[in-house]
Amino acid sequence: MSLPPVLAIDGPSGSGKGTVCRRVAAALGWHLLDSGALYRLVAHGAAAAGLDATDEAGHAAYARTMDVVFGATPSGDESILLGGLEVASAIRTESAGAAASRVAAWSAVRAALVERQRAFAVPPGLVADGRDMGSVIFPEAGLKVFLTASAEERAARRHKQLMEKGINANLAALSLEIAERDRRDATRPVAPLVATPDAVTIDSTRLPPDTVVAQVLSLARARFGVG
Ligand code: DC
Repeated sequence: MSLPPVLAIDGPSGSGKGTVCRRVAAALGWHLLDSGALYRLVAHGAAAAGLDATDEAGHAAYARTMDVVFGATPSGDESILLGGLEVASAIRTESAGAAASRVAAWSAVRAALVERQRAFAVPPGLVADGRDMGSVIFPEAGLKVFLTASAEERAARRHKQLMEKGINANLAALSLEIAERDRRDATRPVAPLVATPDAVTIDSTRLPPDTVVAQVLSLARARFGVG
């Protein structure tokens, strides 16, 4: 069976992937896979279920069976129901991101999420946001983009985002956390964060989101003949 068009966008934390993927998916009228949310959900849900933080097989079993519904609230905010409970805010904290990065280093957890992620590829198309979208989950994706930005810029963006949400954050501490998460995500033995040779790299350090969205859309239109 041939896959519907897939646009894989990978990159490190804070590279602006989330915003760019959401806007590109909306502009193309395609589905969106936020794969990072799945790792955040595994870490959050397994902890809430009382699993030991070192229990890889238990986390993998949880990942296979967790009941997730992605959606939006009536006011348009993100909604994620995990076992019927709203967890969208709970999984977006820095500590939830760090916990996600730890469970994401386990091969059994990654394997448990492969089919769930591939199931998002349905017509008219999919924008897939993550670390291994182009390398492991959708190696045959029609277009692969590697979106990056300097570590300082990514820490500053995350700081601004958190402050806007009313969450107090310390820029120096955030920079250290981002550096640690980068190191863990890029050096793990399974599915490390890499730009595949066939990916188009966009460095967004000095680019406003509108420009990045326009660049990705123009690549997608040229490659897929859509829009
Ligand atoms: O994109 P994010 O910040 O929501 O991702 C949270 C963590 O999950 C990130 O530190 C690494 C991991 N992750 C991954 O290993 N593979 C993916 N495809 C997406 C996220």
